[in-house]
Amino acid sequence: MKRIIVQYGGTGDLALKKLYPAYEQLIGKGFAFEILALGRRFDDRESFVSTIIDKSASPEFLKHLDYLPYDMADPNATANLTRKLKSMVTDKENIELIYYLALQPNLYEEAIRQIQEVDSSIDCMCTLTKKIVVEKPFGFDLESAVRYNHILETAFEDKEIFRIDHYLGKEFMQNLLIMRFHNDIIRSIWDKDSIESIQIIFDETHGVDQRLGFYEKIGVVRDTIQNHILQIITYLTMNEPASLSSEDIAVEKVKVLKAISPVAEFSTGRYESLGANSGHVVDVPTYAALKLYVNTYFFANIPIYIRTGKMQNEAKSLIYVKFKNTTKDVMHDQSIAENAVIINIHPELTIDISVNLKQPNTSWKSKPVRFRFNQAETFGANTPEAYEQILQKILQGDKSLFPTMREITESWRIVTPMLEHNGHTEVYPVRTLPRFASELAAKNHFEWYT
Ligand code: BG6
Repeated sequence: MKRIIVQYGGTGDLALKKLYPAYEQLIGKGFAFEILALGRRFDDRESFVSTIIDKSASPEFLKHLDYLPYDMADPNATANLTRKLKSMVTDKENIELIYYLALQPNLYEEAIRQIQEVDSSIDCMCTLTKKIVVEKPFGFDLESAVRYNHILETAFEDKEIFRIDHYLGKEFMQNLLIMRFHNDIIRSIWDKDSIESIQIIFDETHGVDQRLGFYEKIGVVRDTIQNHILQIITYLTMNEPASLSSEDIAVEKVKVLKAISPVAEFSTGRYESLGANSGHVVDVPTYAALKLYVNTYFFANIPIYIRTGKMQNEAKSLIYVKFKNTTKDVMHDQSIAENAVIINIHPELTIDISVNLKQPNTSWKSKPVRFRFNQAETFGANTPEAYEQILQKILQGDKSLFPTMREITESWRIVTPMLEHNGHTEVYPVRTLPRFASELAAKNHFEWYT
């Protein structure tokens, strides 16, 4: 079977930073496919490759990378793409076309229409199968997500549609389920009887940079909360699925999402220099802090505090699960620290369990210490990148690492009040935590984990 990945957004940031390196890795591992990058920036393959493809890219990868100048607004666009695809296939082969949309959500509709046109005009004597891959955010809001999905489903069967959230390809996410459901000692303490609160911190040092055109229409809620953060919450709080099959996991994830009540507290900010060189005013939130609850029997009343955004002093992605501290009252010793599970996602993947043990040379004094699992030390540093795992699943036709449309719909429902929130957007100096994030902590009597 010959596979061709038709890469929409082929000169964009995502393709350059994440997809091409992942394609290169997969080709290096023996996966066979061609990539046809579509873009407006270059007139031919040579200038595309020499200008934006990493100089250290392997010859093997370059051999499989082609380019077609493609402007969706050009009336000849689809005819050109059809001609190009026909030139890449022969009648005797089985062909799979994988259309990968790494585009702004508002271009989906037209892209899908064009794909249908191309699809119906490739009249080769071969067996032709197809898949479509759609980047996050899937849609712009609940209404558009449902509309795009309807269009997608008129052109593709469900098994051919892959909606991306690359966080599902991350090792720590998959590990959350194994950690929770393959360990009796964890399973038995993972509920509202033992957990006091959860923090999810997702601070990034970089700004919007060359993604301004995309980001200014999206903002932090659509960029990370509607997808990555809510997916993390489902993995943290779902009940045990009947099995770890994608269908059984999806059933439990939807239950969690349905149980998320309207967000209790929510504030946004944007960093001071956002869009400074763009020549126009950019007023879109780049940081948010919020509190929410998952109202299921096992997790109701556990506050989940989230902060996420750009241009922070330190790159920090972690989940901090704080356990109740009954011991200090029972032992009449306020210096006894709480227990916690800390899942560090970035810069390296570690899982810490903090407990109290005896401090030497003292009389019954305890000190918090940590048991640490370090992914790289235990399993080696070569864990595949999220996108590599995701792309591999697409090639294999395995839908286990993709959110379902029901999850996506519920996630849009949850963030709708955040999108409609018209409170004040704080302007924060770069490399500083917005004031509202500290205020959320002060108001709720907790400290952000450092
Ligand atoms: C993307 C967002 O989905 O995830 C980016 O669009 C964000 O704004 C990125 O920086 C973070 O992903 P990762 O894999 O670097 O944690």
